[in-house]
Amino acid sequence: MKIYLTDHEGKDHELEAIEGWRLMEIIRDYGFPIKAECGGACACATCHVYIDNSWIDKLHTMHQDEEEMLDEAFNVDKNSRLSCQIILDKTLDGLHITLAKSSD
Ligand code: FES
Repeated sequence: MKIYLTDHEGKDHELEAIEGWRLMEIIRDYGFPIKAECGGACACATCHVYIDNSWIDKLHTMHQDEEEMLDEAFNVDKNSRLSCQIILDKTLDGLHITLAKSSD
């Protein structure tokens, strides 16, 4: 499956993703600047990404702990999510995301 990522310079990248992995792990393994300091425990908000508007409704709704952690992040928008809380499955094949500045 594929993920499409826009970096801080506005450049688009196609990433090969693996079902069952966290979105954050794919971004990090490709070497993009994402700190993901807590390693996916939903305790840092440094894995913040923006989800392309056309994909928002395809994601599961946010759990309370993700919402609370995002409250502490910078530059949060309506389409902000923590990429460690998104587990990839086939329904997300082709997902478009943009790296948030606060994630590096
Ligand atoms: S990696 Fe820390 S909240 Fe996602």
